[in-house]
Amino acid sequence: MAKSAPRPLLLLLAVAVAVAVGGVSGEERTFIVRVDADAKPSIFPTHAHWYEAAVTAAAGGGGGGGEWREGGPLIHTYSAAFHGFSARMSPAAAAALAAAPGVAAVVPERVRHLATTRSPRFLGLLSSPPSALLADSDFGADLVIAIIDTGISPTHRSFHDRGLGPVPPKWRGVCSSGPGFPPNSCNRKLVGARFFSAGYEATSGRMNETAEVRSPLDNDGHGTHTASIAAGRYVFPASTLGYARGVAAGMAPKARLAAYKVCWVGGCFDSDILAAFDAAVADGVDVVSLSVGGVVVPYYLDAIAIGAFGATEAGIVVSASAGNGGPGGLTVTNVAPWMATVGAGSMDRAFPANVRLGNGQVLDGVSVYGGPALQSGKMYELVYAGTSSSASSSAADGYSASMCLDGSLDPAAVRGKIVVCDRGVNSRAAKGDVVHRAGGVGMVLANGVFDGEGLVADCHVLPATAVGAAAGEKLRKYIGSSTRQAPATGTILFEGTHLGVRPAPVVAAFSARGPNPQSPEILKPDLIAPGLNILAAWPNGVGPAGIPSDGRRTEFNILSGTSMACPHVSGLAALLKAAHPTWSPAAIKSALMTTAYIKDNSNGTMVDESTGVVADVFDFGAGHVDPMRAMDPGLVYDITPVDYVNFLCNLNYTEQNIRAITRRPADCRGARRAGHDEDPLHTDGDQRRRRAGGVQRGGEGAGGPRQLAFRRDGQKLSFTVRVEAAAPRRKMEPGSSQVRSGAVTWSDGRHAVNTPVVVTVQAPLQ
Ligand SMILES: *[C@@H]1O[C@H](CO)[C@@H](O)[C@H](O)[C@H]1NC(C)=O
Ligand SMILES: *[C@@H]1O[C@H](CO)[C@@H](O)[C@H](O)[C@H]1NC(C)=O
Ligand SMILES: *[C@@H]1O[C@H](CO)[C@@H](O)[C@H](O)[C@H]1NC(C)=O
Repeated sequence: MAKSAPRPLLLLLAVAVAVAVGGVSGEERTFIVRVDADAKPSIFPTHAHWYEAAVTAAAGGGGGGGEWREGGPLIHTYSAAFHGFSARMSPAAAAALAAAPGVAAVVPERVRHLATTRSPRFLGLLSSPPSALLADSDFGADLVIAIIDTGISPTHRSFHDRGLGPVPPKWRGVCSSGPGFPPNSCNRKLVGARFFSAGYEATSGRMNETAEVRSPLDNDGHGTHTASIAAGRYVFPASTLGYARGVAAGMAPKARLAAYKVCWVGGCFDSDILAAFDAAVADGVDVVSLSVGGVVVPYYLDAIAIGAFGATEAGIVVSASAGNGGPGGLTVTNVAPWMATVGAGSMDRAFPANVRLGNGQVLDGVSVYGGPALQSGKMYELVYAGTSSSASSSAADGYSASMCLDGSLDPAAVRGKIVVCDRGVNSRAAKGDVVHRAGGVGMVLANGVFDGEGLVADCHVLPATAVGAAAGEKLRKYIGSSTRQAPATGTILFEGTHLGVRPAPVVAAFSARGPNPQSPEILKPDLIAPGLNILAAWPNGVGPAGIPSDGRRTEFNILSGTSMACPHVSGLAALLKAAHPTWSPAAIKSALMTTAYIKDNSNGTMVDESTGVVADVFDFGAGHVDPMRAMDPGLVYDITPVDYVNFLCNLNYTEQNIRAITRRPADCRGARRAGHDEDPLHTDGDQRRRRAGGVQRGGEGAGGPRQLAFRRDGQKLSFTVRVEAAAPRRKMEPGSSQVRSGAVTWSDGRHAVNTPVVVTVQAPLQ
């Protein structure tokens, strides 16, 4: 767990993934096909006619093709964020198609998953209200945030439209109806809703319409939760369980929402995600929020990267979750440089639920369990699930039992006791359900060494808490030393909600970490935002624990994940765009990143929740988002689509690969000379004149000029940063690397515009 261990060698990790065509089986699967829109032969009346004919021809079907077939093979056609289509075909047909004229790329379908850790809670505490400036202003009222997720619960109080003006005239979207989502479900707040299931059903078969519905309705809860984080209205819920009353509100309470449902029981399919991007661009959204995990493949094979590029080119900010694969390195996903990649941090709020042992020890735990408590003052017998099956004749092995997997516990061994379960394999809430059904009265969920000290508070179906690895070890030892005469005993003390917790924020243990496995020279994640124990809207058709046996209903729920961090940034991006309508997506991202902070509320550098050790740029990127400072950043670094093309050229992608992303012919000759990090710097236009003085930290950089004198709004100036590596103090092992980080800071006395810089010094192999 030592965070100071040398970072793994980046260059060895260049991922070699080829289009899986011409492969082992002739079985049909879904492929996403990028075409050159202008290459359509004139004999086809529409692009769809051309696409169908091309698929048929590639399948060896219609000879010369060109015949229009009813109910053809197309799943989606794309025309706004992307040009092309998705279709079922054999790998051989896909290979044939890839070689056809006018076809720029053929990308195999992939399935993604939501980036939440499923840590629900009954009614609870509310997020602190945003600042007066944001609340009182009309900021965001003309902007539309697209939530690409599990759909939305349209009747939730967070999405009421009282006091909102008419739907912005630029909005061109629709409100699709279906089961549980009548045609009048949209309003001036929820301005649009669509669903995309064709890709899902093409691979997984027809959906089970008892378990989920063919409409934008949210049967899961995740999409309702993320939408309300980005742009939920002010809501005053009455707390019935003794937790604090307060205001629930999203980051941009006046911004409009459009829900694009792409995630189903079987996952979120790329062809559907791309259809959502395509629709969102055509509909006229301003921000896309995508709390879906990524995959690590080159950008030209990554449908999210491709869809996000099309959106960015249309001036739309795309904010995506970094993933929950932390705390290990190289786990960050959704890393394309044109997206904001958002990791998760904690807030200064905690839900302590400590374990008091019979030997007097108290172990720190967390929980948002909200049901009937354990009997006050009573000490319960404690049993470790890993040993509770050995006493029985049940077939379950000790390993399954230690994890509290379904059916692994012997009711005779756990009845009336508090059961200690190890974290891992099944969901945390499911473990509680297993203990509950076996007759246990409570549960302590203990981290293993691998999990470290990162804890997520859950709303279990029985009194339960979660403890870290060190506490888990003490607990197992205590139980192991007990005897029949002196059994191990304990209880859980639920302390409700604590505020003002220090240190905060910390980088959540699960938050995915850099370095960036695709492009190590681009730091990812970009920044972190609150993602641990986030309270937000919840549909009334879904229990808070997210397991079928949970019949409870609640208007708000607490979830954790980079899924929850991402919509914070999406909502802020909408506010920034409202305040600075001319800013590009890159300028908005720049404002968010250069003003992010890295100090916690104890004045130290933010620490990593999993170890308690100081975190670094690979953990928190530019730092934790700071809404107020982002509104007035002083300077922004802008990037145009041409700069991104130059970046792709410098990855040595072929022009064909680049066209798969950019849909314009790429001319890499200039780019390969110029390099790709000469981003112009310009003023944000709200001051006539500004001087910025260059400041350096970390001691190893130099460059020039050291002062930038801006003479007018929007003026662009350039500077050079030169990094010199001093000789290492001691000889480096061959092939080893050293990582140093620092920052370039421009300051005018009032603003500080920070850019983290990481330098990797690598010793030769011999
Ligand atoms: C459909 O879902 C329902 C509810 O989850 C389940 O009871 C039923 O068995 C499922 N049907 C099929 C065919 O899987
Ligand atoms: C952090 O530093 C600020 C300014 O130096 C000071 O006002 C504050 O009390 C410090 N907070 C803590 C927790 O040390
Ligand atoms: C691209 O190719 C050039 C020349 O072969 C090489 O120097 C460079 O390292 C390559 N870049 C990447 C990102 O692979």
